[in-house]
Amino acid sequence: MTATDTTTSSRAYADDRAHVFHSWSAQGLIDPVVIAGAEGSWFWDEAGTRYLDFSSQLVNLNIGHQHPKLVAAIKEQADKLCTVAPIFANDARSEAARLITELAPGDLDMVFFTNGGAEATENAVRMARLHTGRHKVLTTYRSYHGATGGSITLTGDPRRWPSEPGLPGVVKFWGPYPYRSAFHAADEAEEGERALAHLADVLMVEGPQTVAAIMLETVVGTNGILVPPDGYLQGVRDLCDQHGIVMVADEVMAGFGRCGEWFAVDHWDVAPDLICFAKGVNSGYLPLGGVVVSRRIADTFAERPYPGGLTYSGHPLACASAVASINIFKDEGIIEHARHLGADIIGPTLRELADRHPSIGDVRGLGVFWAVELVKDRETREPLVPFNAVGPAAAPMNEFAGACKQRGLWPFTHFNRTHVVPPLTISDDELRAGLAILDEALEVADAHVTA
Ligand SMILES: Cc1ncc(COP(=O)(O)O)c(C=O)c1O
Repeated sequence: MTATDTTTSSRAYADDRAHVFHSWSAQGLIDPVVIAGAEGSWFWDEAGTRYLDFSSQLVNLNIGHQHPKLVAAIKEQADKLCTVAPIFANDARSEAARLITELAPGDLDMVFFTNGGAEATENAVRMARLHTGRHKVLTTYRSYHGATGGSITLTGDPRRWPSEPGLPGVVKFWGPYPYRSAFHAADEAEEGERALAHLADVLMVEGPQTVAAIMLETVVGTNGILVPPDGYLQGVRDLCDQHGIVMVADEVMAGFGRCGEWFAVDHWDVAPDLICFAKGVNSGYLPLGGVVVSRRIADTFAERPYPGGLTYSGHPLACASAVASINIFKDEGIIEHARHLGADIIGPTLRELADRHPSIGDVRGLGVFWAVELVKDRETREPLVPFNAVGPAAAPMNEFAGACKQRGLWPFTHFNRTHVVPPLTISDDELRAGLAILDEALEVADAHVTA
């Protein structure tokens, strides 16, 4: 019996197909792999087919699967106290908030806990609007901020389109993207300068006194691992200061070590007013997210109630897992390991692959957060598949992903890119083995190169 036969005949598979309504999917067209178990950077299906997880599930599994100390901490908390309402205080929640704020830059010293990233961006916008008394929010094209009503409006990718019209007052601008510059910039430095000049122009024509917040992904994740040129984030900070605008860094994907820093903003020494987090805070062992709030904004709600809340805000099980995860990161030097993986293995290997594979147009990233952008033609930079391609138009990327999976590598793909985003705990050897598979699979992409 093949792997597929075993998987598709299982009860889990049958119940899934009959009763589970999946995210973002045409329900009749999907064929989910049933995951039977996982450890470290690997997971396997019911037939025992193993995959090296180069996607960290949804770029959330920073610590890897089934870390024994993290599992133990959850069990310990479960034995002690599973749930309390948000109005009470609780030791797990208090400690998680203290640890997170100790890691955060500037005067960000309070935490509003949520169940995930979308609720974090929603609440950051609510806080910024009430703090400033203004209503507009600026976010970038090529961004993702979540799928709830407000956060999907903040989102700057096609996932927003079916939910329009959305929240009033959300205005989009272009962030920096040197490889496909919206500003015809010749290099990174010029891209950063022109992107800032563009943002200043958008503020001018929108009326800066009407703008509550500028929200951006510190390093854009799903939409391309777009690392901002040096000076760009400081420039955004300066514009916010000049106009009394709240700077919101969405670090749901980029935070907690993914970029080789606790918070990605640390890379540029910039302190936003609010940071949204989720995913890597506890590697998704339990649903958790939140907003780290500056003292100045928290003070707005010192005498006046904050008009927002969630039954599970600061859930003890989730918070205990965050405490354990942060301590494990410190004890095991996971941030340092992430930096090493990016600087010594991923970056050099991808650059070497780019020399040999004509389908590679660009490689970029930092820490364990890298994109390989695939093109048909290096000269024109025509993408391997069109923007937002589906069906036959997306075939070259699907073939590439299939070639990875056949060889036991689970890739992350989006549009014409594959991202190298394994757990931060992956070993050097595992990482090299995964990159060697990527090297082989890229031959499939090379076959689609036209020039
Ligand atoms: C940058 C960013 N913000 C927000 C979200 C939404 O998080 P969640 O799916 O936990 O709601 C995501 C999810 O991928 C994300 O990458």
